[in-house]
Amino acid sequence: MSTQMGGLGPWRAMGTGDIDRVHGISEAVHPTLPENRAVFADRQALYPAGAFVLERDGTVAGYCIGHPWLEAEPLPLDARIERLPVRPDTFYLHDLALLPGARGLGAAGIIVPHIIRHARETGLASVSLIAVADSAPFWRRFGFRDTQASEGKLAGYGADARFLTLRFDPEAQGRH
Ligand SMILES: CC(C)(COP(=O)(O)OP(=O)(O)OC[C@H]1O[C@@H](n2cnc3c(N)ncnc32)[C@H](O)[C@@H]1OP(=O)(O)O)[C@@H](O)C(=O)NCCC(=O)NCCS
Repeated sequence: MSTQMGGLGPWRAMGTGDIDRVHGISEAVHPTLPENRAVFADRQALYPAGAFVLERDGTVAGYCIGHPWLEAEPLPLDARIERLPVRPDTFYLHDLALLPGARGLGAAGIIVPHIIRHARETGLASVSLIAVADSAPFWRRFGFRDTQASEGKLAGYGADARFLTLRFDPEAQGRH
C-alpha cells in the first residue's frame, strides 16, 4: 500500500554513489544499447523515488530506474532529460537490469509491482516501457500490453523492441 522503502527485500534507493556501478551494469547487460553515465545520473537526480538498486552478496547486482513522463513520448536511447513534464501521464520505466547471477531469484517480482503501485498511487494513468531483447513475455506477465508507438520512437532499441503499457482503470483512477 505504501511507496515507502519497507518490503522491498534486497532493493534499496539508488544514491549518487551508485551511479558508476549502475552504468557498469548497464554496459554489461545491454552491450548493444549503450547509454552514457549521465543518463542514469540525470534520472536519479530528477526522480529519486523511481531509482533503485539491488544488493546481492554485499554488492550492487542490478538496478531499476524510471520517472514520470508522457506516454506518447517514449524516450530515444541515450537521451538526456533536463526536467520532468509538468503534467506527466505515465511512469516511464527506463530500465530494469540484473546481472546474470541475480536473475531468477524473484527480485524483479518485487520491484515491478512496487513501481506499478507507486505509479498508481501518484495518480499516473499508466506505466510504460520499451521492452528490449526477449523481455516482452516477462513484462506481459505483469499486465503490460503491446501498444503502438508513433513512427521512429523505437529506433535505436533494436529490431525486436516493443512499446508496452500497463494502463490503469480510468474508473478506479477517477479520471477521463
Ligand atoms: C528480465 C529480468 C529483469 C527478470 O528478472 P528476474 O529477477 O530474473 O525475474 P524474477 O525472478 O523476479 O521473475 C519474475 C517472474 O518472471 C518470469 N520471467 C523471468 N524472466 C522472464 C522472461 N524473459 N520471459 C518470461 N518470463 C520471465 C519468472 O519465471 C518469474 O515467474 P514466477 O513469478 O511465475 O516464478 C532479468 O532477467 C534481466 O535483467 N534481464 C536482462 C535485462 C532485460 O532484459 N531487462 C528488461 C529490459 S526492458
